[in-house]
Amino acid sequence: MAAKFDRCRCSGLKFTQINDHAQALHTTSIKRLKRELEMGMYCSACVPYLKEMFKTGQTVFTETDEVTP
Ligand code: FES
Repeated sequence: MAAKFDRCRCSGLKFTQINDHAQALHTTSIKRLKRELEMGMYCSACVPYLKEMFKTGQTVFTETDEVTP
C-alpha cells in the first residue's frame, strides 16, 4: 500500500485545514501561510505538496503522485 501524504507532518496540520485557511485569507502564499499557521517551517517536505494543492485542489497524495520539489 502506498504511503499517504495529507498533512504537514511536522505541524500535524492537514492539507485540507491549510487549504481552508488559505481560502479564508484569499492567499496561496506559502510564505504567509508558514507565518500564520506555523507549518512548513521545519523539514519543508510538505511545501511541494502545498504548491500542487493550490494548482490542482488535490489534498491527498501518494508516493506515486508526481510532485515537483
Ligand atoms: S512536513 Fe511540513 S515542515 Fe515538515
